[in-house]
Amino acid sequence: MIGKKMEEALNSQINEELFSAYLYLSMAAYFHAEGLDGMASWMRLQAKEEVEHALKIFDHLVERGGKVTLKAIAEPQREWDSPLAAFQAAYEHERYITGKIHELVDLAQAERDHAAFQMLQWFVAEQVEEEDQTKKAVELL
Ligand code: FEO
Repeated sequence: MIGKKMEEALNSQINEELFSAYLYLSMAAYFHAEGLDGMASWMRLQAKEEVEHALKIFDHLVERGGKVTLKAIAEPQREWDSPLAAFQAAYEHERYITGKIHELVDLAQAERDHAAFQMLQWFVAEQVEEEDQTKKAVELL
């Protein structure tokens, strides 16, 4: 059984991941509108990955007898000044998410929640990749 604090924090992270999906879909829509279908495809793939991230946490909560509580997803930004500005925003967003994951790891440690700690290690490694990919995309533009 998962503790209340961890349950709440993981539910918030589900929301962060779903917002990430929404943000990247919004970027995909922006790129399509600019005629940049390749960049749009890249963002659509990111959006799918974000939904998978949310589901990974969703499943963890279910497996541990926790309650999944879905919250409202905020409206994402729709326009950017340039493709570069959009990718820079994606990179900044990934850095923000990394911070959130690290906060969760700290909480898992404080709560002595070894199962959550182990599940979160996947996200720690994933964020290194996510930051690297978006940073490289920024550097290519
Ligand atoms: Fe789920 Fe791109 O972090």
